[in-house]
Amino acid sequence: MIEVNQLSKRYGNFLAVDSISFEAQPGEIVGLLGPNGAGKTTTMRMLTGFMPPSSGTAKLAGFDIFEDSMEVRKRVGYLPERVPIYPDMTVQGYVTFWAQLRGIRNARKQVDAVLQVVNLYERRKTLVRNLSKGMRQRLGLAQALVHDPQVVILDEPTIGIDPQQVIEVRESVHALGEKHTVLFSTHILSEAEQVCDRVVIINRGKIVAQGTPATLRKQLQPGTHIYVQIGGANATTAQKLLGDLRGVERIEAQGDGFTVRTKPNMDIRADVSQRVVQAGYTLLEMRPVAMTLEDIFLDIVGREQA
Ligand SMILES: Nc1ncnc2c1ncn2[C@@H]1O[C@H](COP(=O)(O)OP(=O)(O)OP(=O)(O)O)[C@@H](O)[C@H]1O
Ligand SMILES: [Mg+2]
Repeated sequence: MIEVNQLSKRYGNFLAVDSISFEAQPGEIVGLLGPNGAGKTTTMRMLTGFMPPSSGTAKLAGFDIFEDSMEVRKRVGYLPERVPIYPDMTVQGYVTFWAQLRGIRNARKQVDAVLQVVNLYERRKTLVRNLSKGMRQRLGLAQALVHDPQVVILDEPTIGIDPQQVIEVRESVHALGEKHTVLFSTHILSEAEQVCDRVVIINRGKIVAQGTPATLRKQLQPGTHIYVQIGGANATTAQKLLGDLRGVERIEAQGDGFTVRTKPNMDIRADVSQRVVQAGYTLLEMRPVAMTLEDIFLDIVGREQA
């Protein structure tokens, strides 16, 4: 339903999106996860036809975003980062206005239905200016859904709203996945994990990992970090001692010991204990460090930044 193929965007000399490729199957919820400036909004603006790519292609519902941008726009709903708000309209008026822009006749039924979906029907007579932030965000969602698009693209729909409303927006996004294909961006990993079928992690314009939350964890987690404490050794000594062991990537001081980072799926514990003892030191502690998906994310992003 969404096919992105080596898509890039350059602003002047700056490469904001660097040859990214990913897919979303019909009915899938895909999370675009990345820190500030990663290129999430830029990607979404290209996919929704607001901005041409510098190179690469993408198809939505079978239509090329550049060649068939009108067809794409008919089939995509977009909640931008900053929702344009018309404060003096009522909730119902605002969504009706968008429905008319979308060329929907007999908009009344559609508008009421979509207001039910985002849980604003009771507020349909309220002026937009009097809505809370979370309600405004849901109104933005209504605007994105009113033409019943096959693909829904949501740019950080939960940003700047309180935890209770975040839950409501997440639930709405989750419900959307039953009928629509959803791409939504966030910089909060736990959110991507909770809501998405698949996560695409993007940093500095590049995809650094992608997969289901479970596979991402599996790929990146096992045996990749161990905590070691050696009697009488600081990180420099440890570096000298262990730095050239097969599979060791990095050694970092942590508390009284340090964390040894290895290549994925390597168990270096036997080598570590042997080397430490042979060098005449004492191995006081050694244990694998369980990483949450959040740690993995920060680690990947941090490594890229370094
Ligand atoms: N119109 C523009 N002109 C020049 N540079 C831009 C423009 N828009 C974005 N950028 C730059 O491109 C990079 C990616 O920006 P983008 O807004 O896509 O990131 P993002 O992942 O959405 O970040 P955030 O989480 O802060 O919303 C940033 O370094 C940004 O400064
Ligand atoms: Mg953004």
